[in-house]
Amino acid sequence: MLSPRNCGAVCALGEHADAIDLARLVMERTPHVILAGAGADSFADAQGMPRGDLLSETARARWQGWLRGEKSVLHVDPGLDSRAAMAKSLGERHEPHDTIGVLAIDGLGVMAGACSTSGLAYKLPGRVGDSPIPGHGLYVDPEVGGAVATGTGELVMGICGSFLAVEAMRRGASPLGAVKEVLERLDAAYSLEPEHQVGLIVVAREGSRSSGAIRSGFAMVVADDEGVHLEAPEFVLRPGPKESQP
Ligand code: GLY
Repeated sequence: MLSPRNCGAVCALGEHADAIDLARLVMERTPHVILAGAGADSFADAQGMPRGDLLSETARARWQGWLRGEKSVLHVDPGLDSRAAMAKSLGERHEPHDTIGVLAIDGLGVMAGACSTSGLAYKLPGRVGDSPIPGHGLYVDPEVGGAVATGTGELVMGICGSFLAVEAMRRGASPLGAVKEVLERLDAAYSLEPEHQVGLIVVAREGSRSSGAIRSGFAMVVADDEGVHLEAPEFVLRPGPKESQP
């Protein structure tokens, strides 16, 4: 995403792994913003993108074990409905999920954003999260700045999280102020459960930045002229006992 007029996305891909490359082609070569499912795969074929198996052997084995009821493999009861299975998967195994959100500013000062995810384990077929929806998992407005979100997409989607962050900055908030506004809105809008997590990165158009999360465990990677380093979130809504807040 470069701007409200210049963005592209794909979701529910079945045959192609290079989602961000394909999203960029939607942005550059079609009049559309989002292509989904079989149509997105057909577009990828037409653009000459390679097909691939989206399920790793490890993930396939775990899923098949879950179907067979091997709780030792997954620690998830196959009798649970999808919502409960997702919650146990996220909350008990504490496995990091795989959403990646990136905001970059080039040497000419142009901001671009990208976001990619496989979504959630044990989701219902057809579920789409926040990542491919402009204004939810990612938003960039070159007049103001950008925001990317990771974590429980259903929470982000209900409040248009990335759009809300950019709009907070448009109203004069700093990146940290925008992070706090989004996380506090989440707290007001939902009854947050232990398995819920949302991480947010916000960058203003001139490059100042902040990040935050509902809980600890989220970190941002910063790459600039001085190198690459990890930055802890400036704001954690529900910090553990030893964490303090700015
Ligand atoms: N944030 C990724 C997802 O919910 O699918």
